[in-house]
Amino acid sequence: MSREITITALKYNPSNKHSKPEFVDYKLEETPGMTLYIALTKIKSTIDHDLSSDFVCRAGICGACGMIINGKPRLACKTLTSEFESGKIELLPLPTFKLIKDLSVDTGSWMKNMSIRVNSWIEAKEKTDITKIEKKVEPQVAQDVFELDRCIECGLCIASCSTAIMREDFVGAVGLNRVARFQIDPHDKRTDEDFYEIIGDDNGIFGCMSLLACEDHCPKDLPLQSKIAYMRRTMVKV
Ligand code: SF4
Ligand code: FES
Repeated sequence: MSREITITALKYNPSNKHSKPEFVDYKLEETPGMTLYIALTKIKSTIDHDLSSDFVCRAGICGACGMIINGKPRLACKTLTSEFESGKIELLPLPTFKLIKDLSVDTGSWMKNMSIRVNSWIEAKEKTDITKIEKKVEPQVAQDVFELDRCIECGLCIASCSTAIMREDFVGAVGLNRVARFQIDPHDKRTDEDFYEIIGDDNGIFGCMSLLACEDHCPKDLPLQSKIAYMRRTMVKV
């Protein structure tokens, strides 16, 4: 049997000087298998055309739909409304990122700055000769790199992180995971000393307070804390 649910969303447009933050209630019929993506699309098409939120893939792949859902950072497209027995769901934009409007935040600029900050690219051992067959990589090593490459840059780890909220330049679990990915890649010539130059400070590996919220909320179940702990051990030795 369907029920009526109430979705309460924060509405605020920082680029409109007349706008003030306010919570707005939306009541709608829950349908079987309804996700918050479906619910918000229904609200936007039938109740409030002005409500802003981001979605691209609807499948937990693009990382666009992160928001605070009843107090926790989650992906709206992977969250069923039926999970909330009370039928009341409160939505807030992700903290730390620049608010665009309502539930929409600019994770892209943050991720770009982080990528530049951690030199998020392979520094190759030798120039690529495209006339030659690629060198083989051990299957386990390829698997380990692939595992860390599954990050979708949703920003939930940053929105969960106390250090990221206090330190604007902290690279966060997503940035440290990125460095860990290049650290184990045999194509990358950088040494632990080189990586120390990039993240060996309080805005890098030593800023993490090990509260574990990043790993708790990562929708891709990345091993963020064990990678941070491993890198911290290697950096301490440098
Ligand atoms: S590490 Fe996890 S939570 Fe953080 S941005 Fe990547 S996928 Fe999202
Ligand atoms: S819409 Fe792409 S992850 Fe939710």
